[in-house]
Amino acid sequence: MSSQLLLILLWVQVMITVPGLLAMPPQSPILCGPAGCKLSNSYGMWGDRKDCTVSNVAYPTTEEELRSSVASAVRNKLKVKVVSKFSHTISKLACPAGTDSVNKSILISTEKYNSGIDIDVPNLAVTVNSGVPLRSLIDKVEEAGLSLVAAPYWEGVSVGGLICTGAHGSSWWGRGGAVHDHVIGLSLVVPAPQSDGYAKIIRLEGQDPLLDAARVSLGTLGVISKVKLSLEKGFKRSITYNFTGDEGLENMFMDHARKYEFADITWYPSKHTAVYRYDFRVPLNQSGDGIYDFLGFQSNSVLVSKSVRATEKSLESAKNVAGKCLLASTTIAYKKLIANGLKNGLIFTGYPVIGLQGKMQTSGSCLYTSSARIDQTCAWDPRIDGLFFYESTAIFPAQKFGDFIRDVKKLRDLNPQNFCGVDIYNGLLIRFIKGSKAPLGQTEDSVVVDFNYYRANEASTPRLNQDVWEEVEQMAFFKYGARPHWAKNRKVAFIGVAQKYPNFAAFLKAKSQLDPQNVFSSEWSDEFLLGKEGEKGDGCALEGLCICSEDRHCSLSKGYLCRQGLMYKEARVCRFTPSSLIRNT
Ligand SMILES: Cc1cc2nc3c(=O)[nH]c(=O)nc-3n(C[C@H](O)[C@H](O)[C@H](O)COP(=O)(O)OP(=O)(O)OC[C@H]3O[C@@H](n4cnc5c(N)ncnc54)[C@H](O)[C@@H]3O)c2cc1C
Ligand SMILES: *[C@@H]1O[C@H](CO)[C@@H](O)[C@H](O)[C@H]1NC(C)=O
Ligand SMILES: *[C@@H]1O[C@H](CO)[C@@H](O)[C@H](O)[C@H]1NC(C)=O
Ligand SMILES: *[C@@H]1O[C@H](CO)[C@@H](O)[C@H](O)[C@H]1NC(C)=O
Repeated sequence: MSSQLLLILLWVQVMITVPGLLAMPPQSPILCGPAGCKLSNSYGMWGDRKDCTVSNVAYPTTEEELRSSVASAVRNKLKVKVVSKFSHTISKLACPAGTDSVNKSILISTEKYNSGIDIDVPNLAVTVNSGVPLRSLIDKVEEAGLSLVAAPYWEGVSVGGLICTGAHGSSWWGRGGAVHDHVIGLSLVVPAPQSDGYAKIIRLEGQDPLLDAARVSLGTLGVISKVKLSLEKGFKRSITYNFTGDEGLENMFMDHARKYEFADITWYPSKHTAVYRYDFRVPLNQSGDGIYDFLGFQSNSVLVSKSVRATEKSLESAKNVAGKCLLASTTIAYKKLIANGLKNGLIFTGYPVIGLQGKMQTSGSCLYTSSARIDQTCAWDPRIDGLFFYESTAIFPAQKFGDFIRDVKKLRDLNPQNFCGVDIYNGLLIRFIKGSKAPLGQTEDSVVVDFNYYRANEASTPRLNQDVWEEVEQMAFFKYGARPHWAKNRKVAFIGVAQKYPNFAAFLKAKSQLDPQNVFSSEWSDEFLLGKEGEKGDGCALEGLCICSEDRHCSLSKGYLCRQGLMYKEARVCRFTPSSLIRNT
């Protein structure tokens, strides 16, 4: 069998899964040993690859226990960070300490602060403890005949964690696609003077500017204990995907977002393909029992995930662009066939797929377990050497996004194959968020674009076509001034981030009011919040820790040199330059 055929079979097989069954749930993000407790994210790896170790982890189960954990930390002058059971944030925000300060900080896990969902049916609201998993919240709300309108597409998150980082689905309607804009009240545990017992609970609601600051806080204002969200009467949705050409995408995205309440667009540049999601509300009495079980979040057999990763690695080392393009074609064809994971019942039988809001917005069937077998996991499970990738997410003012698409198209037209590497993942996923009052939220109606791409196991290994991806990244964040999603991205995306938020000062004011001693800040969260460019070590640009300015920031030994962008001349990217290798030998 030719290796390419084998590859297609493997890739298709990885997509064919048994949803919700036979899965090995993710490991705890906190692993304790004699040297302390090590925190990692769900991918088992932070952007800087450095460990995060703390000596102590508290597992409060009630708001009062939460308060007393904070009080004891404040009394002992320790730094505090909170982490959820999931730790699904890609940026190293939840880390309180470096290896030299393990004894100067504690971690509070909300894993056991995970029940407590109070629904107020007449007032269409729910108050929920911060450790509650998003899926539990949604199911409870739907049982009461109500719906949460906004949620991220991935359900493996806690309510507190998703609020902190500005997590979103997609909508320009109503309160919009970001969950924090549906928050109508919030309780925070903040440091207090000794006379107040070192920590106190404050309840924020109404027009309080502190509530707006706390909507998106990266966990740096205090511990969120409770979140009150507004709900609506239960409803259903009707979804149809239109796989079509990408002509006119730059002119059509706005109309699309205005026309459909939950619109999104997936763009596969290498294939000149755009997938428009026609997604809108329908009444509860419309028939349909559909679910959205997004393909990328279904479980995969461990063997298959490993083989796919091995295949991807060998395509990388052979610089086999054609192989990547074939994978991209196969994947997209398969997604079209199965409607990305939409199901009318057990399987996809045709459009439109109609189902309850609670089943159509957010998914993550790879999260759930069965004791029967343990050979199925989320494809990125760090225990199995499966998928390993970067996620870049840039948030644009809507008015600027058309020009960004035009630029990416020009770059694509130079050589469409350069984009196959992202099209293997999800292409460019385009979503919509409404303007927000949160100082660290979006000040105006915005467009979010996500793209994922291969990450090497070793930091020193350059990636195929990485220059093109760095150019898109720099174009987004520096030419167009896009803002990074707080929970995703490589470090470069955060350079100068504070200057991109006109109300940043309002956030700092709230911070100095609520946490004047910076108990809830760490060197790690400061890196993101303040967006300082770090030291430029050898190879730093390969992993997005810096923008290259010298060849040594790329990889001289592997022939990757620091060069200007192909289209955006101000970009500085690591490009494979074979002649440099000849010169060296
Ligand atoms: C596969 C995948 C898909 C994703 N899809 C989307 C998507 O569709 N849309 C989107 O917007 N995002 C998405 N994300 C990002 C995700 O929504 C965010 O990373 C979210 O913040 C994760 O929530 P968590 O509960 O795991 O938080 P954690 O990672 O545990 O914590 C996030 C931050 O919040 C702080 N924190 C957590 N709980 C509290 C609390 N109670 N009080 C104070 N601080 C707290 C932590 O210190 C940390 O700074 C995705 C991530 C993954 C891995
Ligand atoms: C932390 O405290 C423990 C126990 O007191 C001690 O053994 C260890 O050396 C300390 N670690 C650091 C980095 O100070
Ligand atoms: C899909 O989109 C194309 C381009 O906008 C349009 O011409 C076509 O009618 C759409 N198809 C469906 C089924 O809506
Ligand atoms: C659904 O309910 C509305 C109003 O209650 C009614 O007008 C409509 O005919 C119903 N539709 C179906 C398909 O039952």
